[in-house]
Amino acid sequence: MPQNGRALIVKELGGPFTLEDVIVDDIQSGEALVRIEASGICRTDLHCAAGHRPVQTPAVFGHEGAGTVLQVGKNVTAVQPGDKVLLSYSICRVCKQCSSGNRAYCEKILALNFSGKREDGSSPMTLPDGQALFSNFFGQSSFSSLAVVNETSLVKVPSDTPLDLFASLGCSMETGIGAIFNTLDIQQGSTVAVFGVGSLGLYAIMACKLRQAREIIAVDIQPSRLELAKELGATAAINSSEGDVAEQIRTICGTNGVERALDCSGVARIIETMIDSLGTRGKACSVGSNAPGTRISIDVHKHFVRGTQYVGSHQGDSDPQKMAPLLLKEHSLGKLPLHKVTKTYGVDDFQRALDDVESGKTVKAVLTW
Ligand SMILES: NC(=O)c1ccc[n+]([C@@H]2O[C@H](COP(=O)([O-])OP(=O)(O)OC[C@H]3O[C@@H](n4cnc5c(N)ncnc54)[C@H](O)[C@@H]3O)[C@@H](O)[C@H]2O)c1
Ligand SMILES: [Zn+2]
Ligand SMILES: [Zn+2]
Repeated sequence: MPQNGRALIVKELGGPFTLEDVIVDDIQSGEALVRIEASGICRTDLHCAAGHRPVQTPAVFGHEGAGTVLQVGKNVTAVQPGDKVLLSYSICRVCKQCSSGNRAYCEKILALNFSGKREDGSSPMTLPDGQALFSNFFGQSSFSSLAVVNETSLVKVPSDTPLDLFASLGCSMETGIGAIFNTLDIQQGSTVAVFGVGSLGLYAIMACKLRQAREIIAVDIQPSRLELAKELGATAAINSSEGDVAEQIRTICGTNGVERALDCSGVARIIETMIDSLGTRGKACSVGSNAPGTRISIDVHKHFVRGTQYVGSHQGDSDPQKMAPLLLKEHSLGKLPLHKVTKTYGVDDFQRALDDVESGKTVKAVLTW
């Protein structure tokens, strides 16, 4: 039986979010119905709603869901009703990338996460008048009280997991932390610079501290973000609107540049500065992107003479099934101060949450349903 729920809808790209009644379809084989208890707002939801990604409307976004499984469809073995779950991205499980352990690069990643529908073309959510919604976003569309979730997006967690703090595991947390643990594989004693210390960047700073990097340099334009980065483990903070950032980084590192660097700002000029700040055989990584088609320029000669690398990372190369237990353990040991970046809002207060994310007042806003 289809069920009634409430969801945040974007009716036109660039328009507002509105909280409306929706009809949630029966689950199919390989899906679960999840009662959403918390959903993080990621910058990517806002990019989509603004029309900076190829999506359609009316749409239900949300891809950092957390809640309780209510029903499971045929062939679902990973969870059962009553289980607590965090929701992440969907994969096909069988392509070359999935079967070689590189699930963040599943060959069907766009179709399964950004097409707005199931693989059979149906939408699991409609408006009360029957109009199909662009949903199934990241296999979940969790800006909703009820979500039809693809099995591969489900991550079972212990029943005492603080869902509000861990809702963002499924995207921004695993991306920021995974970029440090996996893509850049920061080692004890390394020097690292993180450009753009919003949600991804601050999770990355926490990860650098866990890996005991020697220098952890935070770069941003918001003084409050730089202060928070220092509280979370940054050893130096640079306001990129003041002075020559690459030069300041060379001075801090005491060499010809930093060993590892991560960009979470998505600003082309900042990505160029990041690459410019690398020392010999340094490695830089992009996770931030403000618009598809953004291009940067690289000094190719300097790049090869120094043997530097510039790579991209989707979801921090993370497997959420492995990342969840690892981070839950660090949190239980008091080594992951997620409460310092998280603020919860009742869903009826969603506009204040969106405004606070937009203005930079809140780093990670989490809606509770
Ligand atoms: N690669 C992935 O898998 C992945 C996953 C999630 C999000 N993203 C993308 O990552 C980006 C960051 O997301 P977020 O949630 O951390 O966003 P955010 O808004 O919380 O953080 C961005 C930070 O960049 C800073 N910034 C902006 N301009 C700057 C400049 N010129 N110099 C230095 N800092 C500057 C902002 O002040 C802010 O603190 C977004 O583009 C998002 O779409 C990518
Ligand atoms: Zn795949
Ligand atoms: Zn995201």
